[in-house]
Amino acid sequence: MEHELQRLTTEARDTLATLQDIDQLEEFRIRYLGRKGHFSTIMRKLGTVSQDDRPRLGQLANSVKAEIETLFKERQEILLQDRKTTQKETTEDLTLPGRKPALGRLHPVTQIMNEVCGVFEKMGFSVAEGPDVETDHYNFEALNIPAHHPARDMHDTFYISDSLLLRTHTSPMQARIMENREPPLRVIAPGKVYRCDSDITHTPMFHQVEGFLVDKQVSFADLKGVLTVFTQKMFGEDLALRFRPSFFPFTEPSAEVDIACVICKGQGCRVCKRTGWLEILGCGMIDPEVFKMVGYDPEVYSGFAFGLGIERIAMLKYGIDDIRLYYENDLRFLSQF
Ligand code: DAH
Repeated sequence: MEHELQRLTTEARDTLATLQDIDQLEEFRIRYLGRKGHFSTIMRKLGTVSQDDRPRLGQLANSVKAEIETLFKERQEILLQDRKTTQKETTEDLTLPGRKPALGRLHPVTQIMNEVCGVFEKMGFSVAEGPDVETDHYNFEALNIPAHHPARDMHDTFYISDSLLLRTHTSPMQARIMENREPPLRVIAPGKVYRCDSDITHTPMFHQVEGFLVDKQVSFADLKGVLTVFTQKMFGEDLALRFRPSFFPFTEPSAEVDIACVICKGQGCRVCKRTGWLEILGCGMIDPEVFKMVGYDPEVYSGFAFGLGIERIAMLKYGIDDIRLYYENDLRFLSQF
């Protein structure tokens, strides 16, 4: 009996060490530790041994069984732990492709700004930038808009002091550049401008591109040629456009360029106010008074200038009906461009 107990213990210990999963462990429990298992059988046999050997063998059987039970629990712990880790590995599939980080992109206003500048750069214009905080002199005086001139009313100016303001257009760049350089000149000046105005077609800050060309014998035909090419590049070759007489204090003669309404193709709709035309920019031949103020001789030089609003061009190009959408930073809107 003693011998049998020892053999059973060694066997149980060795078997336990080889068990790989919970199912095998359960089989082991039934086979060795269960009610009809090997240890119970031996315990039952204890009744048949002699009175003298019984206490010693009984003690031995109990301590061996206890040892196997401890080893069993240890093995169980290990296998349960293993199962948890493998389960974790299977729920996290490391071979799945990762989540792509959202890619940023250029704001639609920046995109149109780049496109507009790109068209003029290809025609030989160079880019210049100037200050947003401007003097009354450059914003108005140097552009033939003296104090009390009625044209000042149209500008809804944000004044900082009597002589300082937020520029209401990019036209001051004409005077700033001509003052410092000699013709021939071909320059565009993109940037932010400010007006105290806010509704579905106006925001207090918006973007303009100013352009001008000064040389000897520049004519209105040159102006029409350059702006026709620009309009076709932006809106398509077969788009109708017209030059409509207008007035600006710093150009003479002045015009506004209209394109056939991009919504109704010239038929007349709500967007073009039933006219079939949409205004896209202002332009004209630079006024001799402006030349005189920067020290150019108007008898020698002539030139043209134009100014356009970027948000307006983007609205027409993309069919956007509320300018404020550009500045609400709603990604659902912005990510469409
Ligand atoms: N500065 C004008 C505005 O903001 C636009 C403009 C019109 C610019 C005619 C020009 C021009 O250079 O010739 O309304």
